[in-house]
Amino acid sequence: MPSMETILKPSSLLLNTLTIFFCILQATSDTSLDNFLQCLLNHSQPTNPITEVIYTPINSSFSSLLITHISNRRYSTPSTPKPLAIVAAKHESHVQATIICAKSYGLQVRIRSGGHDYEGLSYVSNVPFVILDMVNLASIDIDVAKETAWVQAGATIGELYYSIFQKSNVLGFPAGVSPTLGTGGHFSGGGYGNMMRKYGLSVDNIIDAQLIDANGRIHDRKSMGEDVFWAICGGGGASFGVILSWKIKLVPVPPQVSIFKVTKTIEEGARDVVYQWQLVATKLPEDLYIRVMHEVVNATQEGKKIIQVSFIGQFLGQTVSLLPLVNENFPELGLQKSDCIEMPWINSTLFWAEYPIGTPIDVLLAKHKAPQLFFKSRSDYVKKPIPKTVIENIWDLIVKGEKVYMQWNPYGGKMHEISASATPFPHRAGNLFLIQYYTFWTEEGIDATNHYMNFSRSFYEFMTPYVSSSPREAFLCYRDLDVGANPSNRTNEDIARIYGSKYYLDNFQRLVRAKAKIDPENFFKHEQSIPPR
Ligand SMILES: Cc1cc2nc3c(=O)[nH]c(=O)nc-3n(C[C@H](O)[C@H](O)[C@H](O)COP(=O)(O)OP(=O)(O)OC[C@H]3O[C@@H](n4cnc5c(N)ncnc54)[C@H](O)[C@@H]3O)c2cc1C
Ligand SMILES: *[C@@H]1O[C@H](CO)[C@@H](O)[C@H](O)[C@H]1NC(C)=O
Ligand SMILES: *[C@@H]1O[C@H](CO)[C@@H](O)[C@H](O)[C@H]1NC(C)=O
Ligand SMILES: *[C@@H]1O[C@H](CO)[C@@H](O)[C@H](O)[C@H]1NC(C)=O
Ligand SMILES: *[C@@H]1O[C@H](CO)[C@@H](O)[C@H](O)[C@H]1NC(C)=O
Ligand SMILES: *[C@@H]1O[C@H](CO)[C@@H](O)[C@H](O)[C@H]1NC(C)=O
Ligand SMILES: *[C@@H]1O[C@H](CO)[C@@H](O)[C@H](O)[C@H]1NC(C)=O
Repeated sequence: MPSMETILKPSSLLLNTLTIFFCILQATSDTSLDNFLQCLLNHSQPTNPITEVIYTPINSSFSSLLITHISNRRYSTPSTPKPLAIVAAKHESHVQATIICAKSYGLQVRIRSGGHDYEGLSYVSNVPFVILDMVNLASIDIDVAKETAWVQAGATIGELYYSIFQKSNVLGFPAGVSPTLGTGGHFSGGGYGNMMRKYGLSVDNIIDAQLIDANGRIHDRKSMGEDVFWAICGGGGASFGVILSWKIKLVPVPPQVSIFKVTKTIEEGARDVVYQWQLVATKLPEDLYIRVMHEVVNATQEGKKIIQVSFIGQFLGQTVSLLPLVNENFPELGLQKSDCIEMPWINSTLFWAEYPIGTPIDVLLAKHKAPQLFFKSRSDYVKKPIPKTVIENIWDLIVKGEKVYMQWNPYGGKMHEISASATPFPHRAGNLFLIQYYTFWTEEGIDATNHYMNFSRSFYEFMTPYVSSSPREAFLCYRDLDVGANPSNRTNEDIARIYGSKYYLDNFQRLVRAKAKIDPENFFKHEQSIPPR
């Protein structure tokens, strides 16, 4: 999305033209907005009045509602386009009215659940738009006997984990590590976390869903059909409709799991341990997951920067079984009993979210707060081990970039057993690990943005020879507009094929067929949506 700063050039003629253009745009959106709001009122049911959930900029809480569920400050600046209204639906009829009225009066709808989209697609558009905020549709209904749950899209994964634990300490769900992720966006993008080697992604454990289509009709799995159900489980929800809720299959977890974090510097042999990790991480038993975090730390009080590598692990079992397993298969790590802590699975979710050991578990219910960091994140898939000398070069680059970290997330186990076409998420057998690059900053302004965005691009360029190619694959949950993007309001099929092939490989064609079935008019669109042809 080009920001206004890059479009506005100081030429008086251009400025005049633009002023007229914006006045027209403003006038058009004013009448569209008035009609949209009137239409919502016309559709309001007496038992579920819609006025209580409509926010326009004149409502005092408009700005706080907008910003609370923004995770990237890069999409929360004065020049970021703002919605004409936010409908924070509390009832399915509010969702239906929003769709029908936005369609009638030519406004785009952006659907937001947890607001963690890396590129702000759930709350920013370059054409007049409204946000359909799902945050109030957040009920969770657990059936312990059947080991299933219905979860509404606005519920966070922290709320889900907490609710499961209220009912059982031997059930869990495989999903991400940040408690404030919304299930609406997170599950529909794939959703992975530290149990994926045992149970796969979130989408590998979804058994039904409720979806509202572009005509406001509510579907379940049966009425939407298998293609559409398949599509929303990993193809991104926002191309197909509004996901109201998911039915998920809970998974068994032991009463105690073991976690550890072992850090190494270059002097402590990090290079050889990281290299060896690449050879063994996908082959370890599937109860064990070891993520590698590469980050910059201060070596001295004077602030000399060095690389530190952390091996962050989780074992679905007790430490007595974990130690011989690691020492046999990955002795280079040098894992000690004193590195390991046993705890219920629910506590381990706090450890992964970087809360200090002993933090009460109700912190899982904490709400997201306004964003602190500007960031750019990207992803890559690695299919053959990265040579030792290259690992050193990568670290030099990270130390130079300083405000950057990199995570390596191992595949193998269940991830390699599930077929590449079982869900739209195609990155299965053949992948050693997923890289996440994360560049962050706090300085405001276009110069800082250009500087860090440039760093992010050159790092990605540097990695080209060592990662997947033709196409260079990318992970949908790590949304990245640099892998290809359309304008906000027009889905060019050739461009869609570019980002589509990277996110979905051969599954892109089936996504297009599903789109044609459920939304042939392409009402639900954004910069990386699926075209109906
Ligand atoms: C701090 C942080 C930690 C993360 N950790 C992980 C992790 O551990 N594992 C992982 O896999 N990913 C992780 N992610 C990425 C995350 O999975 C995605 O950003 C995901 O899309 C977030 O979902 P959301 O509902 O919070 O986001 P939103 O921004 O609300 O939505 C994301 C996308 O989904 C669409 N959408 C949202 N709700 C609906 C709905 N109800 N119906 C239809 N479409 C909808 C939006 O329009 C948008 O296109 C992380 C992101 C952040 C910022
Ligand atoms: C709302 O309903 C009234 C009365 O039925 C109708 O005249 C009007 O056109 C409707 N407005 C919109 C925007 O739907
Ligand atoms: C926003 O303001 C309008 C007009 O005053 C009001 O009708 C509506 O109820 C307000 N919305 C909320 C959520 O309070
Ligand atoms: C590293 O040192 C710098 C000062 O040089 C300081 O600002 C920063 O907070 C330190 N970082 C950490 C993680 O201690
Ligand atoms: C796990 O969380 C509970 C509830 O907050 C707490 O009482 C307990 O001490 C925690 N256990 C560990 C090992 O962290
Ligand atoms: C972008 O990064 C490259 C490589 O680090 C550097 O050579 C170039 O000068 C940078 N450009 C800008 C505009 O910062
Ligand atoms: C898309 O939006 C731009 C800018 O608002 C506008 O000029 C263009 O006509 C729109 N295109 C379509 C297909 O609606």
